Amino acid sequence: MDVMSDRSNSALMTFTAPNSNQGSTSSPRFPRSIFSVSRTEVDQIPFTIKHGLTDQETSLDSGLSGYLFIVGPAGSLDSPWDPRHPCLLNPTRDGYTPLYNGDGMIYRIQFEQGQAYLKTKLAQSVSYIADEIVHDNPCYPNLNFENFGIARNSIYLGASTQLSVTLTPIRFQAEDPYRLLLTVDMGRPHEIDPVTLEIVQPIGSNQEWKAVNPLFANFPFPLAMSCAHPSFDFERKELYTINLGRSISRFLPTLRQVLKHFPALQPVLKTPVSASSSTDPLQVPKQFVHQLWHWFSDGIDSLIRSGYSQSQSVEDAWQSLVQAIAALNDDDYVELLRWRGGDRFDRWQIVLEDGTPLKIQQTLHQLWVTKHFIVLVDTAFKISLEELLPFEHNEMIGEVEALFRDLANDPQLADTPVYIIRRDNLEEPWQDTSQPRTVEARSLTIPREIAHYVVEYEDRDGIVLHTVHSCATDAAETIRHFDRSAFNDPNTPLLAGMLCDGMDINWIGSYVINPNAKPEEALTPCLIKRDYCWGDPVYAYRNMTLEPSNQIEDVYWIFFGGWEELLSEYVADLYKSYKYRTVCVEDALNANREGRAATLCHVHIERSLNAKQELELRLTTPDSYTFPPSCFANSPQFIPRQGGDGSFTDGYITCLVFLSPEDGSHPKELWIFDASHLSQGPKYRLCSPQLNCGFTIHTTWLPEVAPAPPSSYSVRQDFEPLVNKLVQQYQHSWLPEHHQVAEQLQALFEQIYQRFNH
Ligand SMILES: [Fe+2]
Repeated sequence: MDVMSDRSNSALMTFTAPNSNQGSTSSPRFPRSIFSVSRTEVDQIPFTIKHGLTDQETSLDSGLSGYLFIVGPAGSLDSPWDPRHPCLLNPTRDGYTPLYNGDGMIYRIQFEQGQAYLKTKLAQSVSYIADEIVHDNPCYPNLNFENFGIARNSIYLGASTQLSVTLTPIRFQAEDPYRLLLTVDMGRPHEIDPVTLEIVQPIGSNQEWKAVNPLFANFPFPLAMSCAHPSFDFERKELYTINLGRSISRFLPTLRQVLKHFPALQPVLKTPVSASSSTDPLQVPKQFVHQLWHWFSDGIDSLIRSGYSQSQSVEDAWQSLVQAIAALNDDDYVELLRWRGGDRFDRWQIVLEDGTPLKIQQTLHQLWVTKHFIVLVDTAFKISLEELLPFEHNEMIGEVEALFRDLANDPQLADTPVYIIRRDNLEEPWQDTSQPRTVEARSLTIPREIAHYVVEYEDRDGIVLHTVHSCATDAAETIRHFDRSAFNDPNTPLLAGMLCDGMDINWIGSYVINPNAKPEEALTPCLIKRDYCWGDPVYAYRNMTLEPSNQIEDVYWIFFGGWEELLSEYVADLYKSYKYRTVCVEDALNANREGRAATLCHVHIERSLNAKQELELRLTTPDSYTFPPSCFANSPQFIPRQGGDGSFTDGYITCLVFLSPEDGSHPKELWIFDASHLSQGPKYRLCSPQLNCGFTIHTTWLPEVAPAPPSSYSVRQDFEPLVNKLVQQYQHSWLPEHHQVAEQLQALFEQIYQRFNH
């Protein structure tokens, strides 16, 4: 099917199609409006509501109510201004900062009596406050934060917690109002007040969260890795999330690349020490080599760390190396955290059936709880050290950057490791939280990549998982200033900062997993593909994250599409040998060059029992909408219709749409579809010159909002032990610069404590 001729586009009436053909070919231009963002907070700004794709003003259905929340990065304190829009920032203008990097901005759209109002707020974590205080402040010359790839770091303060990824509602009593968490992969979850949108507290103290690696620990803001989509069990009132540890070698695939030249070493190095048989005569040499391996990788990390600043001293590098050596025996870990609303977490280290610790190769971006199981997936969003490159600031060494990326990067895993934990194995935990108990996870493999997925709460007939496989579609690969177009055409611009196109068509998939069967017999899959399944997919469905979804009948997916300006030669090469190729490389290149429009699609799930009384699924796509050329859509959310019948399609789908209108009118709009009639096009378009969001992905919806409960959180209690320890270390250093750092740290945190007291 030619996606451009989809019948839904016949709904175009007075809507002005954006300037679609200014590139070197007839391929639609990607809307530049996604690169501009505002950090200005607004309150109760009314939207102009337009009917369908016309300019006719109207009001909303009475069935549309409640509060839509969207979150996304909004640049940093030092982001450059957008030359085309003087009031807006263009955070990716430097050519190396990806769209993912930025402080979180929360957008809340309130639907009331046929009207809609916008409120926005920057998510001000403690590290954000620190960033604001030290930024261009002559009192703190050593403490400034800078962007490094996907992260924002300070040499002496650590990693900023940019609360920009996901919104997770929780509720410990059915009669209470929903509370709301901002959750991220790199940092602690934080609670926000749904009314004011201000930060209330982090979930878990600094003492509760372990740093991802000892090398990232010794800062006031240590880098903790978690799960951007934790799972709240609304029946048992428990939040489950993850504290992830990764050895430096996992961040640095470079060494794996090097080792490809030494195949004899690979089996030794791939064997965890703890898994080795004690009767193995090579046990001692293996341990020695294993430790050398860690020493080598950690040493390289120290050298890289020392490059964070030209003024970084030899002592810093040496101290880092000492820490690395001290951490020789620390390896990857995955700890399951359970929070029931109190001060402490219950925690378990996850081990595999053979007793070895679970190791995650990419990320645990998402976790789901069913009635009896916890489902973890090694998600197709890799975070490697090359994405935190310290020397990307130097534009003179683009060739070196490109070379380092070639060495330090791998394609995402083509097969998805899945881990299943029985909840009845989560006995009451050991009280000493520094010594977590272990819990066993069964592993199995789902062919093809999974970045986002949904799991039903009811698991009586097996664990039911719905996804779109992002085949050769690597959401972690963003375009850099030194990239070349895959089309070998100097006239085709590449849009630095944006995610790259996919190099194959995606598959929509649902699975019944039998957690008791052998891994090779555990999966009952149902897979379909449609012509529009190109680009990264994001989902929405009724009651998403608001209550346990015992059975999901309908899921909506937005596909980002394929764009000529978003495919680099590097990514095209990286996925040339993709394992599960559906479309040949040449056709994949052509699809992106011609362009594949962003598409909103409705997937219906039917169930039946086979002759053995086993659950089987059947997928259909009864409805879809193809966005007009040069329109990019994202952040889908299902809003149930007030007074409706409660069915899975009785409601609205909202999404953000980015345009590039020639007349300078609203380049960003919120489109609202009738969820049961997508192909009719948007029912409403919400327009406002103050809707100046950047690249957002995730959303949630609450039927009503109420203030967050009072919190006893103390910033001083949370940070003082760590800060005091660091201050003492720097005071005893023989370097005069460190004495200044000690003074600056003390002064900064006193300023932070006072600010929170007020
Ligand atoms: Fe996500």
